[in-house]
Amino acid sequence: MSITAIKGFNDILPAESDRWQYIEQTARRVFELNGFSEIRVPIMEKTELFRRSIGDATDIVEKEMYTFTDKGENSVTLRPEGTASVMRAFIEHKLYAQDPVAKLYYLGPMFRYERPQKGRYRQFHQIGAEITGVNAPLADAQVLNMLVQLFREIGLDEPSLQINSLGCPDCRPAYRASLVAFMEERLDRLCEDCRRRFTTNPLRILDCKVPGCIEATVGAPSVLDHLCGDCDDHFAGVKGYLDSTATPYSINHRMVRGLDYYTRTTFELVTGLLGSQSAVAAGGRYDGLISQLGGPAIPGIGFAIGFERVALLLGDKDFSRQPDLFIATMGVGERDFAFRLMHDLLRSGVRVEMEYEGKSLKSQMRRADKLGARYSVVIGENEVASGKAAFKRMKDGEQIEVPLKCEDIKKMME
Ligand code: HAM
Repeated sequence: MSITAIKGFNDILPAESDRWQYIEQTARRVFELNGFSEIRVPIMEKTELFRRSIGDATDIVEKEMYTFTDKGENSVTLRPEGTASVMRAFIEHKLYAQDPVAKLYYLGPMFRYERPQKGRYRQFHQIGAEITGVNAPLADAQVLNMLVQLFREIGLDEPSLQINSLGCPDCRPAYRASLVAFMEERLDRLCEDCRRRFTTNPLRILDCKVPGCIEATVGAPSVLDHLCGDCDDHFAGVKGYLDSTATPYSINHRMVRGLDYYTRTTFELVTGLLGSQSAVAAGGRYDGLISQLGGPAIPGIGFAIGFERVALLLGDKDFSRQPDLFIATMGVGERDFAFRLMHDLLRSGVRVEMEYEGKSLKSQMRRADKLGARYSVVIGENEVASGKAAFKRMKDGEQIEVPLKCEDIKKMME
């Protein structure tokens, strides 16, 4: 019996990876334009890192981490997200010593033991960006504008931006207390998970998808009514900058996010096209995280985009790259000639394919069609002798006679 992949772990096959490369290249371009540099961090970390950053009372840490003991008896975890690792590296290598304002981006696989369904996998991929060292709401607006710009450049206008503020350690306890008082009277209407959350992490009840819990939380107090003066001003600043750049957004005061490190601004890019997996990107501010992980008191804000969800939104759009030229040959001697010509053309940046084995001319031309080559050329004894050949433009069949030299062929194709 053949061996299959692990449930929730996917192969990215060639047709799909063309789309992924397009997303990745667009993201790298937009991030670099905005002054971000790539950081590459390991996919496995000490378990303690995620417990301390994401929080013990979150679904991720409670139920979803791939944690195991290695041969040295250390508890290690496949990273469920990127921010904790990036901030660990930021602290460990004292990146802040040169400049507390760091703009970092990263991409790669993340691992969560969730129930797999469309848009939700156990190994999934994120592309994320983080800015450290800026308290001002300008940084929040800049990060949001970059995210929106990225989606526009990818060609997806549909996901809409929702924002919220979760306050800070000064004002959140009062909100938490008022939410607990509200929920206390409705405890019997909550699902089992939410009854547990009621004591461990009551804000998460607002995020539960169980219909009974959604009903029970109608009319729950809004976090935005409990912000302290500073958090209120900060949120007003973020909204003001978004308005001034005409970035569309809506406010969702029930957005609580599944990671405990957030303070103040949080946000999601949501779509109606992926069923219950509505967030294609998400993030927020984490002003306490770096100090919580043993670093200096430096604030941060960032987001991560779910690669698989963006790829799903792009649908069947074809991102494959077709050859510029297919060289067909009549005989063995011409094949050697064509091989050298292909070698030279490839070195000068022309995407060329040829038939490697002695197939009939008809089957070679079928292959040129199948590959979607822009041009084809047939090389026989006459062409080798005269040093010229007729190149056929495949879309309209027009024949153009050109010397069999790299520079001439390249010029003809422009
Ligand atoms: P998150 O909301 O847990 O945030 O994940 C961000 C995005 O990753 C989600 O919006 C979704 O598109 C994608 N995603 C999450 N889980 C899965 C899954 N099981 N399958 C497929 N896609 C998934 C974070 O991870 C934070 N680190 C974001 C951040 C960066 N906050 C500040 N900086």
